[in-house]
Amino acid sequence: MGKPKVVLGVSGGIAAYKACELLRRLTESGHDVRVVPTAASLNFVGEATWAALSGNPASTEVWESVHEVPHVRIGQSADLVVVAPATADMLAKAAHGLADDLLTNTLLTARCPVVFAPAMHTEMWEHPATRENVATLRRRGAVVIEPAVGRLTGKDTGKGRLPDPEEIFEVCARVLARGVAEPDLTGRHVVISAGGTREPLDPVRFLGNRSSGKQGYALARTAVARGARVTLVSANTALADPAGVDLVRVGTALQLREAVLKAAADADAVVMAAAVADFRPAEYAGGKIKKKDGQEPAPVTLVRNPDILAEISADRAREGQIVVGFAAETDDVLANGRTKLLRKGCDLLVVNEVGETKTFGSEENEAVILSSDGSELAVPYGPKETLADVIWDQVAPRIGVRRA
Ligand code: CTP
Repeated sequence: MGKPKVVLGVSGGIAAYKACELLRRLTESGHDVRVVPTAASLNFVGEATWAALSGNPASTEVWESVHEVPHVRIGQSADLVVVAPATADMLAKAAHGLADDLLTNTLLTARCPVVFAPAMHTEMWEHPATRENVATLRRRGAVVIEPAVGRLTGKDTGKGRLPDPEEIFEVCARVLARGVAEPDLTGRHVVISAGGTREPLDPVRFLGNRSSGKQGYALARTAVARGARVTLVSANTALADPAGVDLVRVGTALQLREAVLKAAADADAVVMAAAVADFRPAEYAGGKIKKKDGQEPAPVTLVRNPDILAEISADRAREGQIVVGFAAETDDVLANGRTKLLRKGCDLLVVNEVGETKTFGSEENEAVILSSDGSELAVPYGPKETLADVIWDQVAPRIGVRRA
């Protein structure tokens, strides 16, 4: 088998310079990349750069090398087309099927998965015309990555930044790995909690746990590649922001509850991968707790935190919403998991064994997925991303069909 063929479409925005880094990642990881820039984008990055970095000619027009019928061949032979950055104009052209240059022709002839990574000013992204164009492209099966929030061209900040090229590469790799399978979470809003909450005792100390957030982040990344709109509620993680997610950072269980409930209001699925503290200190000392000579430390009194998973399972914000919980167990793993599934009232419970050296912080995981319909699915030891995809395989067909 030859190298996977990737078309990198570049449209005319300042973020075009970031596509050089994406191109480098794609070629270095063994992809044969053909860059198809728009004429406007050449104002930002020139043809010579694309040709040198890709090792392939980079043309903008259908009139070059006409005997090779490039406007048809490039799209037909691609395994993936990624447009980064995709301007508002490019999204509009793609949504309406215009074909006035090589890139738009390529988009019409491609039968492989297509990823758009939009970048523009917030107002343009939020304009109803762009919203409708994005919805059209998603409905047709394209993966349109949500832009990141941050500094835009000039002094403005807001939503519209091109995500980190490394993270766009990650989305491309996942979409390529899925092959021509339609993104099955298109049009779905999924909410994922990740990481571990911290319950403060005083300004310098907290009660925490060992959760790294990797499983929750893997769920977010795989959901983006499957076309979902993703809200990631992240508690105390030190991981890179995945491309295309709406990221909400929280610290405590109460903050996590508020963020999850807010996002769950219009969610099709909620996955509680975060390790939420069951208890928090009853008192928060406004100043640092000091040791006193000759005195034993005062005991710490704890109070219960609300059980967020049980709450969202009992009171679904939306008909057909699927709720997934995780169970971290050290003993009697499956028996405890089954009891917990009933107690929490969720649709699926991903049960895994944890310990000081197991699961927490590692790249791999093994689990059993218990369902409220009685089925059990064992997922063998493997990357957290694989487990994440198996979870979405279980969630996607259940959305909307669950009875209240
Ligand atoms: N969870 C939650 N709110 C809490 C505690 C846990 O939403 N206050 C969620 C976690 O996100 C996870 C699931 O519940 O999806 C199971 O968490 P776990 O700590 O394993 O279960 P517990 O309810 O704490 O049960 P036990 O203490 O008996 O192990």
